[in-house]
Formats: sequence, structure tokens, C-alpha cells
Amino acid sequence: MKDLQQNAIAVLNKNWKDKFSIPCDKLYPFQWFWDSGLIAIGFAHFDMPKAEKEIETLLDAQWSNGFIPHIIFHTDTDTYFPGPDFHRSNLHPDSSKKFKSTGMTQPPVTGFVLQDLYRISKDKKATLGFIESLIDKVYKNHEYFYTQRDPQNEGLVYIYHNWESGTDNSPIWDDIWDTMNPPDYTFERRDTTHVDASERPSKREYDHYLHIIEIAKQNNYNDEKIAELSPFLVQDPLFNTVLLKSNQSLIDLYGMIGNNEDKIEQLKKWQEKGTAAVNSKLYDAELGVYIHYDLRNEKPLRHISSSSFTPLFANLPSETQAKKMVDVMMEKFGNPDQYLCASFDPTSDRFNPKKYWRGPVWINLNWFLYYGLQQNGFKDIAKRMKQDTLEIIKKNGFYEYFDPRKEEHKNGKAGYGGYNFSWSAALFIDLLNE
Ligand code: DGY
Repeated sequence: MKDLQQNAIAVLNKNWKDKFSIPCDKLYPFQWFWDSGLIAIGFAHFDMPKAEKEIETLLDAQWSNGFIPHIIFHTDTDTYFPGPDFHRSNLHPDSSKKFKSTGMTQPPVTGFVLQDLYRISKDKKATLGFIESLIDKVYKNHEYFYTQRDPQNEGLVYIYHNWESGTDNSPIWDDIWDTMNPPDYTFERRDTTHVDASERPSKREYDHYLHIIEIAKQNNYNDEKIAELSPFLVQDPLFNTVLLKSNQSLIDLYGMIGNNEDKIEQLKKWQEKGTAAVNSKLYDAELGVYIHYDLRNEKPLRHISSSSFTPLFANLPSETQAKKMVDVMMEKFGNPDQYLCASFDPTSDRFNPKKYWRGPVWINLNWFLYYGLQQNGFKDIAKRMKQDTLEIIKKNGFYEYFDPRKEEHKNGKAGYGGYNFSWSAALFIDLLNE
């Protein structure tokens, strides 16, 4: 495993571009929001200055309204579609004047990442000083979410695009695609020139993705207009969990820094309301797990995915809920012939073990679930989650995602998508050293 750690370090150093990291070559040649945060956790174990720079660069691209974009286009390259000329986020008056970016966001990991840097740091005083220098930007990002993304003041924020969820082509979104009929756009995909098309979303799915952006652009990315008009408007348990986990981290970090009582009080209010809302609106007692809610069509999306279990990561479930949820995880995802944890219910007709977020195992989700299980006292299952995660990387390398079926791993060819993928390397390092 120690050799593999050296390889993981080499992957991160190779994907480092002076002041930020790319998730991987060609397929994702820019800085991505949640990738960036998770990558910083890996760097923190062996190169704290890079970890800090990664976060500094990310926050440098923050808009004046507190929003942080999901992709920051630092360079010009034609290996990716849709690029900055498609997104045109400068239509929004508050967009960054310094960086080109998208006009959508991603799960707001920054708050808990700062706390992870502190956890890992060997020089706590220096790291707390670094955190103090930019924590207010993260607070402002949370303020953006609670004031602009929660139109009914529920304590839950919405996402307006599947790319904001991070779980880009989850079968959950099929229910929403059924309510839409976008044009048959003409465009040149780039992802399928780098990766086998069977592992990526379909052309028709991309039509939906582009159509939502077109509507946002017609409205200059105005949040109120998007809330009113976007055909995709979802309250996502993973996204809200990450926000609440980051809220909690900000409360802890401001507590250590001192002199920020107003902010701590506000964060606690968001925390209390958000936790209650996740547990009432996004918990499905019959299924025994957390699910997504389609705010546009006002109905729950009753599917079980790896996102369904993530509230453990922010300690949101009660003891009874947690126990029930872990039983469901084991019953549906815990088959001994499969590695933990498939990204979508392996017992469903919509499950596909090779296709991106429709079934494969993802290292970042396993990492959330590992810590969630551990914190909630499910030590044995946490141990299996960690061992499975390390083993699939050992057998296949630092891929973007992996086949859950163990029989596919015999020849080391069960890794899919991008290769030398940064967060797979970063979180491998963290799991090995935690
Ligand atoms: C992609 O291009 O598939 C990215 O994941 C979007 O964020």
C-alpha cells in the first residue's frame, strides 16, 4: 500500500497546475469545485502549501454575491465541451471579472475541507491562521445558498441542474427528463473522444443538460428567474448534507478563531432548520432512506442511491433512522459479490454497473460513507467500506469510477472513465492515513 501511496502522490503532483488541480487530463482540464476541495485533503497529507493554494484559487473565483462556480476555466483548451463560450456566465452581473466560469455550482465542500486541513495539519496554529484568512468567503457562500436557493424558506437549498448535484447522470434524473422535451441540439461532444461512450451519458441526456443551461442564460443566470422557470429544480440529500456538514465545520472553526458570535449564531439557526427539514422532507420512512425531492413538479423522487445514505456524514439521522438506513444499505448494496458502494440501487432496472453515475462505485461517495458510518458507530461496515475502497484502487489503479461486481475485477480492468483521477488519489491517501 505504501508504494501505491507514492503513486497517488505522483498523480496529484502531475495534475497540479501551479495554483490549482485538474481532476484528470483531457476529460476534465479545468478546476472543478468539489474536486478541488477533496483534492486539497489529499495534498494536506504531504504538501500543505499546495492544499492551501488549491482552496485559495477556488475562492478567488467566487462571485460578488457569494456564489462559487462548478468549473473555473483557467486555460483555453478544446478538449472539453461545453466550455466558457457556451456557459457565458458573465451574463450574471455579479460574476467574476477575473475568471471565466460556469453559472452553476456544486456540493459546497469548502467548509468541511477547511476543518479537514486542520485535522491533518502538523502545524495547527499556522493552519488556523490560513483558515482565518478566508473563512468569511465560505460563510458568504453559505449565506448565498440560504438567501438565494431556498425560495420557500424551508432550510433546504435547491439545485437547478444535474451537474450541480455532482451525480451527473443518476437514474433519479430520468423522472425529470420525462417531464421535458428539449430540442435535438447539434454539438460536438469531447468526453466520448477520451472515454468509451458506453461509460458516459447519452446524446439525449446532453440535450437536457444543455437545454437547462439555455433557459438559465436567457435569464442571465438570475436566481429568482431560475427558481421560477427551470424545468430542473431539486432538493438533493447529498447536496444538503454537504452544506450542513460544512455549516457545522464553520461553527467549530469560528469557535476556535473567536470573536465571531453573530456568524456562529446565524450558522446555528441554518443548522437547526436544515437538519429538521432534511429529516422531515427528505427522509422516506417507508424506504428507510433519504431521497431527492422534485421541487418543480412537487413530488418526491423515490429512488435509492448512494446519496441516500450520505446524511450519516453530517450526523443528521437519529439512531433509529441510521440503523434502518444501514440495514437497507446492506440489503440492497451489500451483496458479498459486490464492492461497496454502488452509486445506484443494484436491485433496480435502472442500474448499470459501467455507466458513470448509474451504478459504478465512486471513491468520493465511499469516503463520505466511510466517515459517516464510523461517526455513527457502524464500525464493521465502515471497515468494509474502507477495505473495499482501497482494494478496488489496488486492483485497477486511480480511475474515476469502478464496477461494483467483484468478478469484473479479476484482470484489473474494472476501472472506468478518466484515469489518474485526482480525487481517487487524494482520498486514497486520506483513507490510508486516517
Ligand atoms: C462533465 O462534463 O461530465 C462534468 O462532470 C460536468 O461537471
